[in-house]
Amino acid sequence: PLIQRLDYQQPPFWIRKVDLSFDLDPAKTLVTSKMQVERNRAVPHGPLRLHGEELNLLRALINGAGVSFRQEGHELVIDNPPDDDFALEIRNTIAPEKNTALSGLYTSGGSFFTQCEAEGFRRITYFLDRPDVMAVYTVTLRADAAKYPVLLSNGNLTSSGTLENGRHFAVWNDPFPKPSYLFAVVAGDLVAREQRVRTRAGKDHLLQVYVRRGDLEKTEHAMNSLIASIVWDEARFGLPLDLERFMVVGVSDFNMGAMENKGLNIFNTSALLASPATATDADFARIESIVAHEYFHNWTGNRVTCRDWFQLSLKEGLTVFRDQEFSMDMAGTSSARAVCRIQDVRQLRALQFPEDSGAMAHPVRPDSYSEINNFYTATVYEKGSEVVRMYQTLVGRKGFEAGMKLYFERHDGQAVTCDDFAAAIADANPGSALATRLDAFKRWYAQAGTPRVKAHGEHDAAARTYTLRLAQHTPATPGQSDKLPQVIPVVMGLLDRHGAALALNANGDTETVLVLDQAEQTFVFEDIDSEPVPSLLRGFSAPVVLDDGLSDAALLVLMRHDNDPFNRWEAGQRLALNRILHALRAGQPLQLSPVFIDAMRGLLNHPELDAAFKELALTLPGEAYIAEQLDVVDPQAIHAAVMAAQQQLAGALRDDWAAAFEANQIAGGYTPDPVSSGKRALANLALSMLVLDAQATGDTVWPGKAYQRFKDASNMTDRLGALAALVNAGAELAAPALERFHALFKDDALVIDKWFALQARAPESEGRVFARAKALTKHADFTLKNPNRARSLLASLCMFNPAAFHRADAGGYVFWAEQVLAVDAINPQLASRIARAMDRWAVLAEPYRSAAREAVARVAAKPDLSTDVREIVERALASG
Ligand code: ARG
Ligand code: ZN
Repeated sequence: PLIQRLDYQQPPFWIRKVDLSFDLDPAKTLVTSKMQVERNRAVPHGPLRLHGEELNLLRALINGAGVSFRQEGHELVIDNPPDDDFALEIRNTIAPEKNTALSGLYTSGGSFFTQCEAEGFRRITYFLDRPDVMAVYTVTLRADAAKYPVLLSNGNLTSSGTLENGRHFAVWNDPFPKPSYLFAVVAGDLVAREQRVRTRAGKDHLLQVYVRRGDLEKTEHAMNSLIASIVWDEARFGLPLDLERFMVVGVSDFNMGAMENKGLNIFNTSALLASPATATDADFARIESIVAHEYFHNWTGNRVTCRDWFQLSLKEGLTVFRDQEFSMDMAGTSSARAVCRIQDVRQLRALQFPEDSGAMAHPVRPDSYSEINNFYTATVYEKGSEVVRMYQTLVGRKGFEAGMKLYFERHDGQAVTCDDFAAAIADANPGSALATRLDAFKRWYAQAGTPRVKAHGEHDAAARTYTLRLAQHTPATPGQSDKLPQVIPVVMGLLDRHGAALALNANGDTETVLVLDQAEQTFVFEDIDSEPVPSLLRGFSAPVVLDDGLSDAALLVLMRHDNDPFNRWEAGQRLALNRILHALRAGQPLQLSPVFIDAMRGLLNHPELDAAFKELALTLPGEAYIAEQLDVVDPQAIHAAVMAAQQQLAGALRDDWAAAFEANQIAGGYTPDPVSSGKRALANLALSMLVLDAQATGDTVWPGKAYQRFKDASNMTDRLGALAALVNAGAELAAPALERFHALFKDDALVIDKWFALQARAPESEGRVFARAKALTKHADFTLKNPNRARSLLASLCMFNPAAFHRADAGGYVFWAEQVLAVDAINPQLASRIARAMDRWAVLAEPYRSAAREAVARVAAKPDLSTDVREIVERALASG
């Protein structure tokens, strides 16, 4: 059934206190729940309907006496509960070891873990499993002491001890009322890295990171990231740690990255464990940001939570914004900050833009869903974060901090909406560019689709004015045909033809924020002597597609001189994109111009630019982003164009790549700081280019060097970089290197995931990559039961390797359908993620389009699909 945002009603009952006890056993766990229930007098009288799924109910008592109830679908209905407050006791059993969906209480590697967001708690016991019902929890855990020496839940440990038959117990109390989605339990044979910290407020806290025995030395980076997060949130937003104990736990089987359960964050090991030998620089950065993200949720998510799941971006968009700001502050220099920003925007364009123009396009605050887990999306998270960033741009950094302060003053301890957040930021900044157009600004929550902004400038030499005309338009998306103008902050500057920044007003400012809030608007700048080059949307100040109509000459000025590093990078990307799009539209082979090659050479050899920036600037736009610019998408043609561009860039800059490779070697030990990781990234890019060029010329020196580097590498970034150079170029040495890599790391699941992913993501050439990926599903190490492993092969191939996936013989689609159905029988959340590979079937060129539609229709025709996958495939079909 479709759930509608506007149907929200308060619950007819509140649950104020819960006393939960677990007799843990993998086959049959007994759950006893004693709840203090209170009628909500603000809504009409009605029955008590508790959510419950996959539960075996033993008994239900009200005030100690049996009560009559009925089971209606996934609800337990008590028709005549008392009018006064009452005690409700439920007893039920569950089977954690059979829980392959990894939602609720499940086992992994012989331990117990929970995942309750969004609606997993109802798979543990009957409850009002909705975020506006907040209760204080006391949890008693009983389990075999030898198998499960560690027993954890939210809050503080209040007692523990031994029981008969080799069992033991622990009692936990969480003083903060919380919704059920933040509940957590962990029980198993785990060890912890511990650290005591004193916060600014002068309070002492115990930090713990729990992992399997043997993984302890891989937790140092996570612990450091946690400490840095605590310090940052106190310094930047004045938000302190509110618990005596803060625990983080790693688990190998997990559907998402991590979960912010109060005081007991649970992490996918891929987002927690790192050592120089097994994790790349990108892994170190991702771990830092996810540890921060979950920690920051303690305020933006837990202390103030969501009234209903339509408000998900209230906590997710805001918390992504906070973790992005944290990563930038940690990076330090302005260049390193820009690198963070560029990476975030690349991610947005690669994942969110396609989502916003495909079958699953939805507003940051969706209007309806049938399965909420399908809406933990790039739109809710990443576009949601861009919306929060626009608040900050419109009210300024100080204004935003004041807004956050007011938000917590008003709403601490409450479950609220995106409107409440908007009101707090605006009320703290009366008269601001936000407050004066708040209703229009909130269209960002309501309208799906990526706005297109067109810019056109005209210089009047006689009047010495420059007139900038901006026009916007948001394309139609499923269910939303007409859109109103958005409020778009356009951070901008003007450069003269030599690259000098021009004064934009009498104050001499060289940068300003234009607020575009009409379909079309003009802005006039005075005292402009000659035709300027506009630098628009600096720092990517709004999540839009900008068509600034600039000539190559103007883009070259920006690329060489813009003092906004984001736009400097963007100008280079635009130049490359223009070439590629031109070739695709003309149906001609791609030929890079000497001017473009020279500009790229200039960047690569630039004496002042950071290596990390150079690596980003010399990386061509991704195939998904290129596809976004086209009305009809031929994945094979796009791939061919990108490969040709890469090959030409490799050959034309051969000597420069070799020099860059040598110049960016690092002596000494490994640290994942921005400078060192930038150097490694550039050296690895150079190596890939050199091996690629060697493949074309028949040279064997660079492949040999790459193999040597692969063997001798002292860290995973360099080892995987060298391996990727061989694999991606299709070098003969790739096969022995892959074999050696597997043998070296066969016991480290997270590294073997990389081994699968690298092969499934390799650039397609004559169907070899597809054939190899298919064959890998039969590999002894492959399993659909572990989400990381399943994703490493299936998502890599179907979602991140368009040229291998979209085949004229439809083999990719047949494979997709088989795998989605196989995964759906085990883990619907995981299956529905992979199902989304077909989101954009309708824009494909023939023969792909018809074949893709047929595959989606075949899956949709299965009668026993999960609601998760059904929603995805039905939306896909409806989008054609
Ligand atoms: N709240 C978590 C985070 O953003 C994500 C958990 C989502 N889980 C799910 N099954 N939908 O950090
Ligand atoms: Zn989150």
